[in-house]
This record gives sequence, C-alpha cells and structure tokens, in this order.
Amino acid sequence: MRIILLGAPGAGKGTQAQVIMNKFGIPQISTGDMLRAAIKAGTPLGLEAKKVMDAGQLVSDDIIIGLVKERVAQDDCAEGFLLDGFPRTIPQADAMKDAGISVDYVVEIDVPDEEIVKRMSGRRVHPGSGRTYHVIYNPPKVEGKDDVTGDDLVIRDDDQEDTVRKRLGVYHDQTKPLVDFYTAEAAAGATQYLKFDGTESVDQVSDKVLASLS
Ligand code: AP5
Ligand code: ZN
Repeated sequence: MRIILLGAPGAGKGTQAQVIMNKFGIPQISTGDMLRAAIKAGTPLGLEAKKVMDAGQLVSDDIIIGLVKERVAQDDCAEGFLLDGFPRTIPQADAMKDAGISVDYVVEIDVPDEEIVKRMSGRRVHPGSGRTYHVIYNPPKVEGKDDVTGDDLVIRDDDQEDTVRKRLGVYHDQTKPLVDFYTAEAAAGATQYLKFDGTESVDQVSDKVLASLS
C-alpha cells in the first residue's frame, strides 16, 4: 500500500504515521526526519538544510525530490510506503507523477492554524526515531523519556511560535494547492482522497484513518 499524508505542520502526520506503519508494516518516509538526520550527522546537506528549516522555509525541490526517489527505490519499499511531509509543493507532486510513482491513498489531516500553534508548544520528540509526543495530549509513559528507548526527549528547533507561524504561512502558500491537485487526481481515478478532522483525539483520528484504509 502506498500512502501520502498531507497536512499542515503539527496536524499530526508523524503521529498517525506511527500507527499506520505499525498496522500495515510499511516504512514511513519522513522528509523532515531525513533532513534532521542529515543535520545531526553534519553532512553538507544538513548544514544547508538547517538554515532553511530554522527559518521555517522549504528546502529546494531538487534536493528533496532526489532524496525521495532514492529512498522509494530501496528494497523495504517494494510492498509500499508512507510519505510524511512529501510532496509539499506542486513541482514535487509533478516530479513524483513524472517518475511514475503512484499512490493508493492521499490522507489529509485537517487542523485549524490556532490549534496548531497551541499543539506545537507541547510537542516533544525522540531525535533517534522521530517518535513524537505531547506533554498533555499524548504524554510519554515516563515524563521526558522515549517509551521505547528511555532516551531523553527534546523540543524541535523549529517549534518556536514565530517559526511555527512562518511554517503555517508556507503551508498555505505552497502546500495547500496539493489539495486541489490530488482531488483532481482522485476524480480521474488515479488515487483515493480521504480527509479527516485532525482536531479529534489521537485515537479517534487513528481509528477513522485505519478503518478507511483497511
Ligand atoms: P517536517 O518535519 O515534515 O515538519 P512539518 O510538516 O512542519 O510537520 P510536523 O512534523 O511539524 O508536524 P506533524 O504533522 O508530523 O505533527 P506531529 O504528529 O508531530 O518538516 C520540517 C521542515 O523540513 C520543513 O519546515 C522544511 O523546512 C523541511 N522539509 C521537510 N519536508 C520537505 C519537503 N518535502 N520539501 C521541502 N522542505 C521540506 O504532531 C504535532 C504535535 O501534536 C505533537 O506533539 C503530537 O503529539 C500532537 N498531536 C498529534 N495529533 C494530535 C491530536 N489528534 N490531538 C492532540 N494533539 C495531537
Ligand atoms: Zn512530522
């Protein structure tokens, strides 16, 4: 099964990706996690990406398209994959289509901007795996520690309120047009478009998403 998760920063893409991945056994391809891994490793890509990400802007389409094409060609993607955070511009979606990479489902998670600003201040992440928590809505079993490894959780560098607002602006300008793009693809029978209210609880959203995919 091949799936795209579409939604604003903080809509819950990473959170739902964990649930879908566990149920269907397909790998999560998070371009944000890939870029954060490059930053941590200090690669030239990481050094370049850090400036852009900290400013709340998007990394160039060419770089991201190259990363994703390489990743989906790997063996563990043969049975399917879950794209989290890609595509997020029309040129990225066009590049996927041109490369013949089709998807079965586009899953949109819809959350209003003000709710997102509130959510981001409570987000905590496990840098090694990308596992995501929220201090109130989705707390770890032990405060400040990852459930699986026990490692310390951290606050993402781009989760300060002014950066979150910039990311939301970029989302509306550059990513939201993908709603129309994939609605048209679905009308043409190329994929199925599913939209969910992301303001419900994590479990409520998961239940509905899983029920629609299976
Ligand atoms: P990326 O890492 O993809 O960030 P994003 O799209 O901004 O999304 P987030 O990871 O912030 O949010 P999410 O939807 O995964 O929400 P989460 O599940 O964590 O990208 C980061 C940067 O990398 C970009 O700004 C850009 O610079 C660059 N980049 C990445 N991909 C790129 C691309 N394709 N092209 C160009 N540049 C790219 O949830 C958020 C919080 O809410 C958590 O605390 C969670 O516990 C909580 N929560 C989740 N669901 C619920 C719920 N239902 N109720 C209450 N709380 C909830
Ligand atoms: Zn995410």
